[in-house]
Parts: sequence; structure tokens; C-alpha cells
Amino acid sequence: MYKYLFICVILITLNALDNGLGRKPPMGWNPWNKYGCNINEEIVRQTADALVKTGLAAAGYIYLNLDDCWQSARDPATKKIIADPVKFPSGIPSLVQYVHSRGLKFGLYSDAGMQTCEGKPGSLGYEEIDAQTYAEWDIDYLKYDNCHTDGTSPKVRYPPMSAALMKQTKKIYFSMCEWGLEKPWLWAPPIANSWRTTGDISDHWYSFIAILEEQANLAQYAGPGQWNDPDMLEVGNGGMKTHEYQAHFALWAILKAPLLIGCDITNMSQDTKKILMNPEVIAVNQDSLGIQATRVKKVLTSEVWAAQVADNGAGVVAVLFNQASLQESITIEFDKLGISGDQNVRDLINQVELGVATVSYTTQVPARSVVMVKFRNARSEQ
Ligand code: GLA
Repeated sequence: MYKYLFICVILITLNALDNGLGRKPPMGWNPWNKYGCNINEEIVRQTADALVKTGLAAAGYIYLNLDDCWQSARDPATKKIIADPVKFPSGIPSLVQYVHSRGLKFGLYSDAGMQTCEGKPGSLGYEEIDAQTYAEWDIDYLKYDNCHTDGTSPKVRYPPMSAALMKQTKKIYFSMCEWGLEKPWLWAPPIANSWRTTGDISDHWYSFIAILEEQANLAQYAGPGQWNDPDMLEVGNGGMKTHEYQAHFALWAILKAPLLIGCDITNMSQDTKKILMNPEVIAVNQDSLGIQATRVKKVLTSEVWAAQVADNGAGVVAVLFNQASLQESITIEFDKLGISGDQNVRDLINQVELGVATVSYTTQVPARSVVMVKFRNARSEQ
């Protein structure tokens, strides 16, 4: 089994975009889910400060990315992209410097079409000059959207930006956002570090559930340097209950999703902070094996997602998820996880040891909630 795993890891590694980035899923912040188009440099500076002050940066959230609406036009003579002078009067380079001075990384957004989804200038036909500009500005990450295209396939429009970025000495993480339209997991690994697998998330339980459902058969395509992206986090935006956000976060973590916070972190509740900063849940996301969870069991509204992990005590992590509105008892049989014998069980969300289980593990899971446990072979830990 370990030999097979090793071969898989090697194959995945050889397939990934050759920029050495995204060996673990990126963690950071993006304004879109909270602010939409109403973004400005003040918010960015305050967010940079808050990432550091709250401890989010120390917990791993180091990318501060912009989304749509930072740009306003192209210079008619040079064709260079121009930042919105009202929203970003100091310009992008000085903002990048500010963010870097906080020990963070900076991300930008563009689109593989004539215009972005909000009607700002896109990069189609301007890939070379835009990639050069991003590198000149010392950008670390690019999200590349799919609106207002010329009708050609993303398979035609995304590679030129990937190639243009790869020509720069500055290494730039490439995040594709074609919404899973053409099954990007099948063709994007050599050209991107991650790719969206679905349409946009919104701050509602049913949006989260619908997106989760679409992740069920994608584990084999993820690995160090190449991640499936089920879209950004809604935790803290107010449309779901705390236990629902906890479920969203635990599942995104075990799916090895990029963990991009989408709420106002200058004003987070204690509950939001606790969910986003849980070190043992984050550790699952950032595990060095980079194995995305598979859905190993589904019975009506109860399901179990699981993935092998190597760090902080090797084992298998399982998320027992109850989607129903009443408490359910959920059992996971160890043969479904590829493990056997006595297992030490640890509750990762509450960070407590739960004792030893053999053959299977059963627990009560409250309505619309998860229990996230790690099973470690008890004999090898004696
Ligand atoms: C698309 C993307 C979103 C966001 C908006 C911005 O809908 O999928 O994530 O970037 O565009 O306009």
C-alpha cells in the first residue's frame, strides 16, 4: 500500500506545473465573498495588519489576494494595465511593498477574456505584457477568471497566461478559475497550481452542500503543486450557523482546498477565529502527503470523508458529516479506511484523545455538523 502511495505521489509531482509553488494548499484571504467590487487600498492595508495581529498569518494564512475591480483601464500607448486610481491611489506596487513588509504574499486577479466578470479589462491577447507587469510589481499569485471570452475553450485560453508567467524570473502561483466547466482536473495540472472545480460559492448551507457534492470523485487529481479548488471560504460572513461553518471548514481542510478566508478579519467573532485558527484542522490541510479526501461512505444524509496523513502522528483522518436537521449516529468501519487493529482516536476539532477503537468507530453527530477524528495505529504507538 505504501509502495503504491509512493508511486502515486511521484506521478502527481511530475505532472504539476513546474514553478515549485503550492506544494501545500495556499492559505490566505480574498475580499470577494465579503466586499465584492467594493474594495480599496485602505481595506487591503487594514487586512494586512489584521492578518498579522490576529495570528492568522502565523497560523499559515499568508496570501493577501485581490479579486475583481482593482483595475480600471489599459494605457492606450503601452497597453499596460492600470489600477483604479480612486480605489488604489497609491498604485499596486506600493501596496505590494506594504503587504510584503508585513511578511505576507500578494495576489492579483485577471481574466482569460476581453473583460473580467465585472467588466474591467481582461488579459486575453495581453498575456505577455500582463505577466511581465505582475512580475515587475512583485506579485506572488494570480487568480485567472473566465468571463467575456471569445468563445474558445479554456483549454486554449489558459495555457498562454501560464506560459507567460513561467517566462518571468519571479515565480507566480497560478490559480485557474474556469468553474470546472471543462473538467480542468484532467488537463490543468501541468499549467496551473490549482483550478476551480465549480461555480461560485455563496454564504448559504445549500451552496456549501452542492459544492461539496461535486468534490466526491476528484481526489486522484490533487497533490503537491496541483489542487482542486472548491472556491473560497464563507466562514464568518453570517449566512450560516457556527456548527455549519465548522463543517464547511473541516471539509475544505480535508479536501486539501486552498483555504482563502472570505470574511472581514478586522472584525471577527471568537467563534470565527476559533474555526479558522484550529491548528489540528489546519495541519490536516497542510499535511505533507497532500492527499485529498475521498468520500468513503454515504448513507442518506450521513457521510464520511477520509484521507491518509503523515504529519503529527501518521494515520487516517475522517470527517463524519451529518447533513440532516436531527442528530445522527454515524459509524465508520475501519476496512473502509484501509486500517485494521486497535486505533487511537483523536478528536481534532476539540483536540482531545478519545481512547481506542477496534474494527469500527461510532459517534453521535449533531445536526448539520461534523466530527473530525484521526485514527493512529495503537500498536505502533506503544
Ligand atoms: C467569478 C469568479 C468569482 C469572482 C468573480 C469576480 O464569478 O468565479 O470567484 O472572482 O468572478 O467578478
